[in-house]
Amino acid sequence: MEQLQLSQSEIEKIREDFPILNRKINDKQLIYLDNAATTQKPLSVIESMSEFLKKSNANIHRAIHILSYEATLAYENAHKIVAKFIGAKSFREIVFVRNATEALNLIAHSFGERFLTSSDEVVLTIMEHHSNIVPWLILRDKIGIKVKFIKTKEDGTLDYDEAEKLITKRTKLLGVIQASNVLGTVNNILRLRDLAKSVNAKFLVDGAQSLPHIPINVSDLGCDFFVASAHKMVGPTGIGFLYAKRELLEEMPPFLTGGDMIREVTVDGATWNELPFKFEAGTPAFTEAVGFAEAIKYLQNIKIERILNYEKTLEKYILEKLKTMSFIEFYGHQKGEHLALFSFNIKGVHPHDAASFLNSFGIAVRSGNHCAQPLMNHLKIENALRASFYFYNTNNEAEKLFSTLEEANKFFNR
Ligand SMILES: Cc1ncc(COP(=O)(O)O)c(C=O)c1O
Repeated sequence: MEQLQLSQSEIEKIREDFPILNRKINDKQLIYLDNAATTQKPLSVIESMSEFLKKSNANIHRAIHILSYEATLAYENAHKIVAKFIGAKSFREIVFVRNATEALNLIAHSFGERFLTSSDEVVLTIMEHHSNIVPWLILRDKIGIKVKFIKTKEDGTLDYDEAEKLITKRTKLLGVIQASNVLGTVNNILRLRDLAKSVNAKFLVDGAQSLPHIPINVSDLGCDFFVASAHKMVGPTGIGFLYAKRELLEEMPPFLTGGDMIREVTVDGATWNELPFKFEAGTPAFTEAVGFAEAIKYLQNIKIERILNYEKTLEKYILEKLKTMSFIEFYGHQKGEHLALFSFNIKGVHPHDAASFLNSFGIAVRSGNHCAQPLMNHLKIENALRASFYFYNTNNEAEKLFSTLEEANKFFNR
C-alpha cells in the first residue's frame, strides 16, 4: 500500500529531479528556502518546454499547418489538465493569464467595473497579498465602493467574529487568501464561504500559496473565483490562471482586448470569442502552458496529499525548534493549520543583514515586507525573514538553517 507520507529516500530521489539543488553558493551547498516567492523546477518541466520549442513551436489558433495544430492542442490540453487538477467542471472555466496578480486585476476590472456600484462593499482580509488589495483600492477610487478588512487576532488567526460583523447585505464580494504568504496560516475557507453565501456575495479565493501544497477542489469549495501562479508550484513563470464559474465568465466583459479574444470585428464594433479565449487576448504563453501542464503531472505523480503530510511533519519539527531559540521572534503558528512557512526576526538584527549572512552560507531566504504591508503594519513589524519550505526540502536543511541562525546571532549580537 502506498504510504501517505513521503519517505526520506523518496525525498532524496525527488531532489535528483531538481538540477538547481546541486548548486554551490559561496562554496556551500545551496539550501533553497524561498519557495513562497517561486519554487524550483524539475527536469521534466524544463525539458517539456524545450521539447515543445524544438518540435512543435508555432502560434496557436491561427493557422492550419500541423505545427499550429499541435501547439493549439497542447495549449488547450493544458487548460483541461488545470481544470481537472482543481475540480473545475470544464476547461472553459480556466482562463490563462500571466500570474495570480493578473487574474486578480482581471476580476477587479471586469467583474468589479461591470457589477459593483458606489453603494457596494468588498471585504478582504488584512492578510492579503498586495495583488488582492491594490486592484480593489483602485476600483474604490474609480467608482466609490467601500473596501473593508477582516483583521487577525493575537494568535495570528483571522478574527471570524469580526468577519461576521463586517460581512453584510452590502457585501458584494469576499476576497480571501487561503494560505498566508507571511504567517503560513491556512484560513478556514469553508467558514468564510458560508459567510459570503449567507449574504449572496461572490467568493474569491487567492490560492497562490495554497494550491502548491493543499489538495483543492473548487467545486467543493464553492468559490466563484480562484487564482494561482504556475511558478509557485514547480511550473514556469509567465503563466497562471483564473478559475471562475462559467455563468460568471459569460456575463463578465473582456479585460484585455485585441487578437484571439474576438469572434468578429467590424469598424463599428466586435463580438467575443467563446470561453476561455474571450479573456486571453493576444499571443498567450503557450510554451509555458506546456510546462505548467507538466508541472501538474509532476505534482500529481507524487500526490498533493503526500506533499501536504510531509510538509506538516516538517512544519511541526521546525516550530518546536524555533520555540527553543530565545533570540528568535517568530510570527503566527500559534493556533490552527499552517504551511511550513515561517516569518521571523533575530532580535536586534535587521532581516536584510541576517539574510545576507545566511546567503554567505548558501541559504536562500526572503527578507522584507513580503508584499503584505497592511498585515505587517497590523502585526507592528516592518520587515521579517521568511523561510518557506517545499517537499524537496529536508530536516537536514532545516538543521543547517537553525545552526546558521545561531551563528548569525552570535555574529551580530556579540
Ligand atoms: C498569496 C499570494 N497571492 C498572490 C501572489 C502574487 O503572485 P504572482 O507574483 O505570481 O502574481 C503572491 C506572490 O507571492 C502570493 O503570495
